[in-house]
Amino acid sequence: MKTQVAIIGAGPSGLLLGQLLHKAGIDNIIIERQTPEYVLGRIRAGVLEQGTVDMLREAGVSARMDAEGLVHEGVELVFDGKRVPIHLTELTGGKSVMVYGQTEVTRDLMDARSAPIIYSASDVQLHELKGEKPYVTFEKDGQRQRIDCDYIAGCDGYHGISRKSIPEGVLTEYERVYPFGWLGLLSDTPPVNEELIYAQHERGFSLCSQRSLTRSRYYLQVPLTDKVEDWSDERFWDELKARLPEEVAARLVTGPSLEKSIAPLRSFVVEPMQYGKLFLVGDAAHIVPPTGAKGLNLAASDVCYLYRILVKVYAEGRTDLLEKYSELALRRVWKGERFSWFMTNLLHDFDGEKDAWDRKMQEADRDYFLNSTAGLVNIAENYVGLPYEEVG
Ligand code: APR
Ligand code: PHB
Repeated sequence: MKTQVAIIGAGPSGLLLGQLLHKAGIDNIIIERQTPEYVLGRIRAGVLEQGTVDMLREAGVSARMDAEGLVHEGVELVFDGKRVPIHLTELTGGKSVMVYGQTEVTRDLMDARSAPIIYSASDVQLHELKGEKPYVTFEKDGQRQRIDCDYIAGCDGYHGISRKSIPEGVLTEYERVYPFGWLGLLSDTPPVNEELIYAQHERGFSLCSQRSLTRSRYYLQVPLTDKVEDWSDERFWDELKARLPEEVAARLVTGPSLEKSIAPLRSFVVEPMQYGKLFLVGDAAHIVPPTGAKGLNLAASDVCYLYRILVKVYAEGRTDLLEKYSELALRRVWKGERFSWFMTNLLHDFDGEKDAWDRKMQEADRDYFLNSTAGLVNIAENYVGLPYEEVG
């Protein structure tokens, strides 16, 4: 087989890049390790920045999002039981976010795809990344196959093969792990509040999110040693109520969980995001903790930059731009990392893991950011998403 761009991974990064390239007349094949059902079974965050929404519209996959997605003009933070509304739209001169689940984004992209996706491909290997003729090999139905291409987009997430195919010593890794995880619960119950609530509490952080007017997603900060089996639905709801302001807890509608899972929190970045003809995109190159919902949105900005560069490469011969991808993408990634780390620090209970100085800094941050217009603007402009740069 032969194609212009081989895309490894059919998560949101790979599917969005593939759709944009396809619309621009650039041939691509996606190679995915799992089945489509498995990919759709993963539950992830659900807050889209304007830039992400714009890319989905440009890709022609926005019909259902535009009809069913919920535009949010604000978000709420809670500190010491005090509710602090953040008027995103007022603070940012008119910007908002769209609440629409990543699973639905993935489904819309899958439905729109007419170019090939090879699912259940095993033992994917990348070759000749520094050469003129890179290629990908993999096994499918017991047969070894080969795809020759011009470029490879590594959209295969944190555990993928793309980053690992880069020789040792080339990449620099930056990492922070946090001493807790998030336990998430999905239920067919109406959201407790119109806006999302990010709540600090001495028992631990909690988040009230939503997927629609009838489906809610809630999270609790839990110790890394906890198992999902430790958390009956009843225990989850009781603990959530204990962490929310009384008037909010009183309105909480509970119900059976559709899904419950625990995810550890991590910040991770590799530099650079390019090696020869291979470009790393999304979770393959960086992970953020979910506080701030930047994961999918950073993936979308990587996709936007790589897509715009490839269009200029094929239409105008601008191969010089390929060398700019990593720098351009990383500038935005680092700001997303900073915000996710800042929000994680601001809102969580570090339970003795912070020294006395760091605890005082956390208190001062809470006091300053929530009682200063500049502080609120800072949170709001990062939450709705920083602007994309031109690719040149
Ligand atoms: N070969 C082929 N496909 C692979 C391989 C491999 N060796 N390894 C992993 N994959 C596939 C995974 O099965 C998955 O479907 O790559 C895909 C990567 O998808 P994601 O992990 O969702 O990563 P990405 O598309 O970059 O999405 C970023 O997802 O995790 C969230 O916070 C993140 O919201 C952000 C978004
Ligand atoms: C979610 O809805 O799953 C969600 C929302 C906001 C976050 C994280 C997760 O910051």
